[in-house]
Amino acid sequence: MKPDMSVEIAGIRLRNPVMTASGTFGYGEEFAGYVDLEKIGAIITKGLSLKPRAGNPTPRIVETPGGMLNAIGLQNVGIDAFIAKKAPFLRTIDTPVIVNLFGNTLEEYGELASRLDQVPEVAGIEVNISCPNVKHGGIVFGTEPQAAYEVVELVRGATIKPVIVKLSPNVTDIVAMARACADAGADALSLINTLTGMAIDLQKHRPVLANITGGLSGPAIKPVALRMVWQVARAVKLPLIGIGGIMSATDALEFMLAGATAVQVGTANFLDPAAAETIAVGMERYLADNGIADVKGLIGALEA
Ligand SMILES: Cc1cc2nc3c(=O)[nH]c(=O)nc-3n(C[C@H](O)[C@H](O)[C@H](O)COP(=O)(O)O)c2cc1C
Repeated sequence: MKPDMSVEIAGIRLRNPVMTASGTFGYGEEFAGYVDLEKIGAIITKGLSLKPRAGNPTPRIVETPGGMLNAIGLQNVGIDAFIAKKAPFLRTIDTPVIVNLFGNTLEEYGELASRLDQVPEVAGIEVNISCPNVKHGGIVFGTEPQAAYEVVELVRGATIKPVIVKLSPNVTDIVAMARACADAGADALSLINTLTGMAIDLQKHRPVLANITGGLSGPAIKPVALRMVWQVARAVKLPLIGIGGIMSATDALEFMLAGATAVQVGTANFLDPAAAETIAVGMERYLADNGIADVKGLIGALEA
């Protein structure tokens, strides 16, 4: 008997719980030759801003033990080019597309959400709140519960599409952030984004990244991500999407036990562009081998 692999996140039905993480899978089309896009649960596109952005100077990626640091600087095509050039391809595939967005002010978040509200191929919005609010002294929306509340409330009011808020791990109290987003009307939460880190070149006595610091991702962050998903799952009722160092079906299944309804695969796409599909197949095999009829039965099933 084939296990039921489908899950639902904020009204978006996924054929399986495995999505691709923002910034690691382009706009989907780039990966079409390497992976069957109709075998993965959903595609999350690269973080989108109102205006195109060139990103940071290079070097902006470096490998570290068990992970990588990136300081891409949110390079993207901007919303006009996304709608004109990227959305038409996404219309042709039978897989939900969730658009990740960010702004440098509250108003930018609101404008992006209301423009995407008009784009039929967008199944939902993922709000990246790990950005500095330039109007308010650079304080990051994602590290202050009140700032997060305001941005989520604004986005919630600007679209009828499902709103997923992506949490930053660079906080002392992840549960306080999750509660603020839930109170402001988020439909789901995804966690975690990258952890701030740095790498040093001893020969040059210089930082490796031109930006000095970057975001750590990959297997090194998985234990932190699992812990945060587990804590948030016990504190808020919203569906959660687990992210952080998921390289295998085993990793993905662990996140579901911790309380995630779905997962996102990021850094693994750089090692194997078909990673998300392979992970979904491996999860299904685990269920079949263990006589589990429905993947939803694993959500939050950790015995602790
Ligand atoms: C090169 C790169 C670019 C990323 N760009 C974005 C982005 O634009 N928006 C965003 O919310 N997260 C971005 N992320 C974070 C990932 O979506 C993900 O949250 C993080 O990498 C942890 O998952 P992983 O360990 O599976 O990579 C980026 C990560 C990497 C490695």
